[in-house]
Amino acid sequence: MKDTALPGPTGIAQLRYLRRAFREPQPVLDELRNDFGPVCRFGFGPAKMAIVGDPAALKELFATSSGSFRWGHKFNVLGFVVGDTSMIVSDGPDHRRRRSSVQSAFSRRRLNGWIPMILEQTDRTVDALLAGPAAPGGTVDLAPIARSLVLAVTVRAFFGGRFATRADEIGDLFERPQAYLESPALRQLPHPFPFTARSRVRADRRMLDSIIDAEIATLRQSEADDPLDILGTLVGGVTLTDHEIRDQVVTLIGAGYNTTAASLSWMLWRAVLEPGTWKSLRAEADEVLGLPDTDTSAADFATLGRLELAERVMRETLRLHPAGVVAPREAATDVRLGGRVIPKGTLILWSSYLAGRDPQAWPDPLRFDPDRFRDPTPQQAAIIDTAWVPFGHGARNCIGFALAQMELTLMIARLAQRLDVTTTASKPPPPVGMVVNRPAGGTNMNVNQRDSAPTGLGGVR
Ligand code: HEM
Repeated sequence: MKDTALPGPTGIAQLRYLRRAFREPQPVLDELRNDFGPVCRFGFGPAKMAIVGDPAALKELFATSSGSFRWGHKFNVLGFVVGDTSMIVSDGPDHRRRRSSVQSAFSRRRLNGWIPMILEQTDRTVDALLAGPAAPGGTVDLAPIARSLVLAVTVRAFFGGRFATRADEIGDLFERPQAYLESPALRQLPHPFPFTARSRVRADRRMLDSIIDAEIATLRQSEADDPLDILGTLVGGVTLTDHEIRDQVVTLIGAGYNTTAASLSWMLWRAVLEPGTWKSLRAEADEVLGLPDTDTSAADFATLGRLELAERVMRETLRLHPAGVVAPREAATDVRLGGRVIPKGTLILWSSYLAGRDPQAWPDPLRFDPDRFRDPTPQQAAIIDTAWVPFGHGARNCIGFALAQMELTLMIARLAQRLDVTTTASKPPPPVGMVVNRPAGGTNMNVNQRDSAPTGLGGVR
């Protein structure tokens, strides 16, 4: 079969798409798909891009050798924040070495060990919320609260309890870089000038480095004792230099914290708005975790596996609201997908957002329905496998996918168990954000201590 070029807008229409793409990427993606299909191109010259949002094409893309793509390309602005040795901007053997060193830190045993800590941190967040000025019954923006919770878990997982009191300080050092990465491309052009947004981001990074360096030095002096935290594992390994360790730690926090927090915000919107879901989540959590004052220090993967509705709510939320609407990679060679050719040098923006809303894969795709993931037939499971890709697939998939899913499932279960949450809104807010897709205007909700009678008789077993 002869290869054909990708369809896409031409002339001045391209500029209109480009200008809007950074402010409101989701409507632009929807329009491009409606007008040109789920695999199309836009942009020109050195800024030529291809959108890939068709599940079958994505399956091919993920199966193509990673040597056909480059992540350390000219448009990858992340390197300025996460460092030049970050796995996210690395290719070839360097990427494999850096990624595999970090991968060993996400062992099943270590993830299992974090489960009670995630529940405990969620409890602390709820306690602080109920003691706060807006409670009881007041309106609270739950988005920053979700961020603090995810950050507290992230800092403990990465640095153990030692850094617990510095979580907010570390979070603050990520806020400015995050905002900078979302700013217009022109503001992100490299330059050495002081008193600018770029120089302030550089200063934040220096401060983060000094915190991590001090911790690496402490760990090097102490006997490694089977650490449960990620930094201890990296320092105990022999494959990464201290410079590389620092860049991977900043990468992991940067890639993992706002993405998971935004997903928790979307989950709150969906679980609170979908009739009956909050109550059902509560009943399940009562059954699996026991009533809120039950000791959960023995909770483990078996416990997590029984939070079956919470997991489906998490999956359905990420289908509709993946934290990254597109993920970039550059074609290092001509890439062929389903008879279409994407020329070498094109920036490929593959989209879990488009795949998650693909009308061929998902009946009534815009409806929130966690039952899509309940007892799928083998045929449905195969469709889910190709069209549910919020974490990607293959050699460059999200390294934190298991941690993120575990956090979100446990957190929504515990929040539903301990809080009555309502909203006067009738639908979720529109999305905002190119780097991290989050609800515009925050997550304002009325929050109260749980009022209803116990629903379950179970406990952590
Ligand atoms: C809901 C939360 C999250 C979502 C939706 C998400 C999604 C993604 C996606 C789509 C990619 C790109 C895959 C590709 O380009 O093919 C990615 C990469 C990555 N993610 Fe996540 N992520 C989440 C949470 C996390 C967490 C918690 C961590 C770390 C603790 C993390 C660390 C990373 C890293 C390091 C990469 C780059 C991997 C590589 O280049 O080899 N992410 N993530």
